[in-house]
Amino acid sequence: MINSDISRRNFLALASAAGVSGLAPSLATAQAQMPARLIPGTNESLPIVGLGSSKVVTGVAENGVQPLEAVLDALVTEGGSVVDTWPRNADNDGAFGQVINSDNLKDRLFITTKIDQEGKQAGIDQFEQTLELYQRDAVDLVQIFSLTDLDVQWPNLRDWKESGKARYIGVTVSGEELYSQLESFLQREQPDFIQINYSIVERLAEERFLPMAADRGIAVLINRPFMNGSYFRRLENTELPDWTSEFDCQSWAQFSLKYILAHPAITCVLTETSNPAHMTENAITASSALPDEAARLRMSEYIDQV
Ligand SMILES: NC(=O)c1ccc[n+]([C@@H]2O[C@H](COP(=O)([O-])OP(=O)(O)OC[C@H]3O[C@@H](n4cnc5c(N)ncnc54)[C@H](OP(=O)(O)O)[C@@H]3O)[C@@H](O)[C@H]2O)c1
Repeated sequence: MINSDISRRNFLALASAAGVSGLAPSLATAQAQMPARLIPGTNESLPIVGLGSSKVVTGVAENGVQPLEAVLDALVTEGGSVVDTWPRNADNDGAFGQVINSDNLKDRLFITTKIDQEGKQAGIDQFEQTLELYQRDAVDLVQIFSLTDLDVQWPNLRDWKESGKARYIGVTVSGEELYSQLESFLQREQPDFIQINYSIVERLAEERFLPMAADRGIAVLINRPFMNGSYFRRLENTELPDWTSEFDCQSWAQFSLKYILAHPAITCVLTETSNPAHMTENAITASSALPDEAARLRMSEYIDQV
């Protein structure tokens, strides 16, 4: 299984390196199955590796929709479905809406969005515009971006869930400066999802939030698995240790993803990429071996010394 997946990855890497456009989408005929985890309290499960789409959607103005199509195609080809979004600009978001409603992608994606506005009406306006641009009556998940205007926006989200415009509701943070505020929010509210930063380098969420989310039945999306790319810069002169082959790890990207995915409280990890070969590499990690507790400890001790 993994060998054929790796062949596909190598093919995509070569195609990408060669600047061959239009090849990746043509591979979308066969769809792999990705391991999935339940959204607590429901019968619905999500494939465990998703796409953080900000960069590739923002790039539409400059590069057109082909890179976005290729990355989404790589995701669904490997059985993924979760696409995290953040509305920024009507032209780009409208193009995103067209792409996700294409025959190949319609009904195959779990689409999230965020509200980053201050003021009740500004939040409502942003959500309504997102629904219109995404050509949807409802999104799968709407989240308050970085707890922005939390007490004003949360009742909006509850209204959207009640009216069926949002299937699930939640909040995001991407740094420890918001952890105390998130903790006090979780003492008084029960979101369906939290989205939080967690990686082999940024491990604070492991103690402070993951056990609590598991106990409370809250789904967890992970952001910053590669610290927005700084993880790779930190490791660029470091060889992957031999012992990582014990859990089929073949790259530094897989090293962080496997560390994250081995935690049972995680529902899905969002990896941001504009490169379909990277999307494939991240997605196939879901189907390979994961480290056990002893290996996770070894991984964290190793990374702390690099
Ligand atoms: N407050 C919030 O709500 C919040 C904040 C931050 C992030 N997020 C969410 O979380 C998502 C991911 O977090 P992030 O933005 O910090 O990005 P990230 O996933 O930690 O890192 C993205 C970087 O990693 C590179 N990359 C991805 N896969 C790779 C691979 N297999 N090999 C080598 N390089 C690879 C990407 O470059 P290439 O494009 O070249 O692949 C990009 O430079 C975001 O897109 C967003 O959806 C939410």
